[in-house]
Amino acid sequence: MKSYENLKAKSVSIEKVRDYWKGKNIPQIWYSDIEPGTVPYYNNVRKQRFEFYYPYLKDSAEFQYHKDEKVLEVGVGMGTDIIEYARYGAKVYGIDLGADQIEITKDMFQKLNLSYEDLKVASAEKLPYENNYFDFVYSFGVIHHTPDINSAVNEIHRVLKPGGRAVIMIYARGWKHYIKRCFIHGILKMKIFKYNFDWQKVYNEVSEVNGGSPLTQVLTRRQVKKLFKNFYIESIEKKRLGEFFEYKPYNTVKAPNFILNLFSLFGLEGLFGENFLIKVQKSNSKTKGKIIDVLWKHY
Ligand SMILES: C[S@@+](CC[C@H](N)C(=O)[O-])C[C@H]1O[C@@H](n2cnc3c(N)ncnc32)[C@H](O)[C@@H]1O
Repeated sequence: MKSYENLKAKSVSIEKVRDYWKGKNIPQIWYSDIEPGTVPYYNNVRKQRFEFYYPYLKDSAEFQYHKDEKVLEVGVGMGTDIIEYARYGAKVYGIDLGADQIEITKDMFQKLNLSYEDLKVASAEKLPYENNYFDFVYSFGVIHHTPDINSAVNEIHRVLKPGGRAVIMIYARGWKHYIKRCFIHGILKMKIFKYNFDWQKVYNEVSEVNGGSPLTQVLTRRQVKKLFKNFYIESIEKKRLGEFFEYKPYNTVKAPNFILNLFSLFGLEGLFGENFLIKVQKSNSKTKGKIIDVLWKHY
């Protein structure tokens, strides 16, 4: 299988990406209006993260299953997720392109009285760790922003121990992508003309909370498979229905629960969700776990 490649993405500079994710664009800092840097603030942000915006993470991120393992988070943001692995006894390591993100994450660890092995500024495209070092790698909403997404995936493969696993979220082409980004912004608001039919530029402009991202790649399932072709793929699931009518600081309106429940009743999240939650393993056996093998061996 050929690898995934996005030449337009490769031409974006990593400095531009780093500079974008500063100040008001630091993810999640706006989840709470309690005084920043205080214990109630951090706890409130965590509550918003796991109860309101991304409840699916409580199960899908596997926070509780990595006690005593070496866990790396690529792109920690303000640290809400890596701290959950630490809370359940993992030895945690984290990197982010932004110095502010690393500082806030360290502060949250200190205020919440938890410990980490290593937190530092680095790029997903060049992880500062040796080969075969981690049991588990987690990365949420990060590698679709980096110019060389293939290098980021290869780096995750390199630092994982044989048999080690990774859980990674990247943006999927769900209904929010087609309705909001392509139809409303691209066609009705005519941004596709502004950008001379360059859809990548439309996605960049409208994908993030405050808009104007230098790079946001939104992949198809086939592209995800190509991207992770060196791994054994456990699962690729679509999550999150994009259930927010308005998604900007302090002004979020979520769809009523009965509508969300109806969606999940009909299994629509798996069809139209806006996130791909990808679970992979560094394994030599590409056929591992295939139903045909199970039938062959056991029946
Ligand atoms: C949308 S945020 C996600 C952060 C966090 N994982 C979360 O879910 O809140 C993107 C983060 O990825 C970081 N990032 C982008 N490209 C990166 C790269 N090449 N290496 C490391 N971090 C990167 C940014 O600095 C930013 O903190």
